[in-house]
Amino acid sequence: MAQFTLPKNSKVKKGNDIDAAGAGAKRMKTVRIYRWNPDDSENPRLDSYTIDLDKCGPMVLDALIHIKNDVDSTLTFRRSCREGICGSCAMNIDGTNTLACTKALDDVKGDVKITPLPHMPVVKDLVPDLTHVYAQYEAIEPWMKTDSTPPARERLQAPDDADVLNGHDGRGPAACILCFCCSTSCPSYWWNGDRFLGPAILMQAWRWISDTRDEAKGERLDQLEDPFRLYRCHTIMNCTKTCPKGLNPAQSIGEIKKLLATRKQG
Ligand code: SF4
Ligand code: F3S
Ligand code: FES
Repeated sequence: MAQFTLPKNSKVKKGNDIDAAGAGAKRMKTVRIYRWNPDDSENPRLDSYTIDLDKCGPMVLDALIHIKNDVDSTLTFRRSCREGICGSCAMNIDGTNTLACTKALDDVKGDVKITPLPHMPVVKDLVPDLTHVYAQYEAIEPWMKTDSTPPARERLQAPDDADVLNGHDGRGPAACILCFCCSTSCPSYWWNGDRFLGPAILMQAWRWISDTRDEAKGERLDQLEDPFRLYRCHTIMNCTKTCPKGLNPAQSIGEIKKLLATRKQG
C-alpha cells in the first residue's frame, strides 16, 4: 500500500514554551501559534505562549497583539480594522477558518491553536500569500462593464435589484470582505486551486452577473462555463459553513449554475 508523508522540511515541530503570564496572574490561557521564517532553514514549529488574560482584550487578535507588543516582536500576522471589515486577520483558529478580531478567546475551550489559512503558501508565520487568489479575482473583471451611453448622473438601480446584491438582511454577495476563509476551507479548491476559482471569487462573479446595471452578463457567463473554473464546485458546503460574515457563497455558485443551465435550454 502506498504511504504518503510530508517532505522533511514541511513537518511542524514542537516549538518554544514561553510563560508570559508572570507570577500573580489569575486568568491564564495558552496560545499555540504556527511559526515559520523564510529567512532561516528551520522547519515550521508551534510556539506556546501562556498569557495573562487580564493583560489583553477579549479577542484572539487582542492576544496576538499583546504577544507581539509585549512578548515576542518577531511574531508576524496581518490585521487592520479589528472589527470584521477588512478581512486581513483571517486565519485558522481552533480548527476553523475565521477572523481573529471577531473570535473571542473565551469561545475556545483549552489551548487556542492558531495556524495560517490552510493550503495557501505562507509568507511568514500567520501570513498567507494571496497573490494567486487576487490574480483569480482580477480574472473575473470585478468592475461594472457597460456599452450603453452613460446617463447624465449615476446609473440608478431599483431597491429590489439592489437587494439581490446587498441581501434583505445585509448578507448578500456585496457584503463579502474577501477574507478567503471560504476558499481555503473548500477541498475542491485545495486540490484544484490552480484552475478552480473557489467560492470567494465565484461569489464575486455572481455579484457582477446579478447587478442589473452591468451589461456583460453573457460574456461573464461564457468565462465561467468551464469544467474547472466553475464546475469543480461539488456542493461540499464548507464555504458557507465557515464564512465569518454569515454569507452564503454556495448559494451564489448555485445561482450561476442555474443561469447556465437555463441558458443552455433556451
Ligand atoms: Fe470571507 Fe465570507 Fe467573503 Fe468567503 S464569502 S471571502 S468567507 S466574507
Ligand atoms: Fe467548495 Fe463550497 Fe462548492 S465548499 S465544493 S465551493 S459548495
Ligand atoms: Fe480587519 Fe479582522 S482586522 S477583519
